[in-house]
Amino acid sequence: MTVHRDNQRLLIVTGVGGFIGSVLAGRLNADGYRVVGVDDFSTGKRSNVPLGIDLVEANLASASLEQILPSQAHAVLHLAGQSSGEISFDDPVGDLEKNTVSTLRLIKYAVAANARRIVHASSMSVYGSVADEPVKEDTKLQPLSCYGVGKAAAEGYLHVFSRRLPFVALRMFNVYGPGQDMSNLRQGMVSIYLAQALDTNKIVVKGSIQRYRDFVYVDDVVEAWARALQRDEALNSAINIGTGVRTEVGQLLNLIEATVPGTTVEVADNTPGDQFGIYADTSRMARVLGISATVTLREGLQRFVDEVRTT
Ligand SMILES: NC(=O)c1ccc[n+]([C@@H]2O[C@H](COP(=O)([O-])OP(=O)(O)OC[C@H]3O[C@@H](n4cnc5c(N)ncnc54)[C@H](O)[C@@H]3O)[C@@H](O)[C@H]2O)c1
Repeated sequence: MTVHRDNQRLLIVTGVGGFIGSVLAGRLNADGYRVVGVDDFSTGKRSNVPLGIDLVEANLASASLEQILPSQAHAVLHLAGQSSGEISFDDPVGDLEKNTVSTLRLIKYAVAANARRIVHASSMSVYGSVADEPVKEDTKLQPLSCYGVGKAAAEGYLHVFSRRLPFVALRMFNVYGPGQDMSNLRQGMVSIYLAQALDTNKIVVKGSIQRYRDFVYVDDVVEAWARALQRDEALNSAINIGTGVRTEVGQLLNLIEATVPGTTVEVADNTPGDQFGIYADTSRMARVLGISATVTLREGLQRFVDEVRTT
């Protein structure tokens, strides 16, 4: 592994073969950071890894991180993991290893590498069932899925080690956009529906179309990560990353139908542990990170479809 002299600017980004991690790693590399990316390619793809970063292929749940990663790092941005609530019920122990044990082991590495902070991919799933109003970060965590329990536990470990390793936990809502895995029909509401619409003109919706979510475009999310890396006001807190807009699944389907004409919809049984409705209170994101989401769902969907059609 290359040894970088300038560790002030050396970042470890995990999950670089995945959707958000690959876009973020490319952005940070373009910003002038030296990026060492980690992925085990259990779901991610080598072709997603941006040019210009050093790649370490490793499973965070089992590898000897202190031996295979740089001995010093400026910060760790942790996006590797199993990212589906539905899949977490197939193998809860596997989910725990991928999302929680991996985080704990990465914390241990980051402390040894004298990292100044760790930014962590948490999720709206930590909240569980909430009232029909924007959810604030101080809401009691009552996750409904094994995935949500693992993400909440990972946040707990970050708190435990926060005096030695300050953290920022970004509770992302439904992230969508180009780069999402269109072949995985169990992960990512927008990509699942869009893939079905483009492939067969028929969307099978698992659960009520009255459910509601907060759909946030990947570029807005990556901007939030870039700021969480720099702002000290963000340290040792959890921050919702969303748009603050409440969108019913039916409204999303209408927008997809407008973008992919002729699409029909069939409603099937819901998946275990699914939250009925949730959307973000984004005031902490605005105050601490200084941003609000800029891309509307209509615009983001159009960009996503245009990208899929040209690749
Ligand atoms: N996409 C969303 O809407 C969303 C919302 C909230 C939180 N998150 C979280 O953000 C992170 C990134 O999400 P994404 O959509 O890019 O997911 P993704 O599935 O596209 O990427 C995750 C990557 O992590 C890798 N990985 C999994 N387990 C690993 C391990 N043990 N060691 C090394 N690499 C491993 C996978 O191969 C994959 O490349 C995940 O932790 C996810 O739970 C995502």
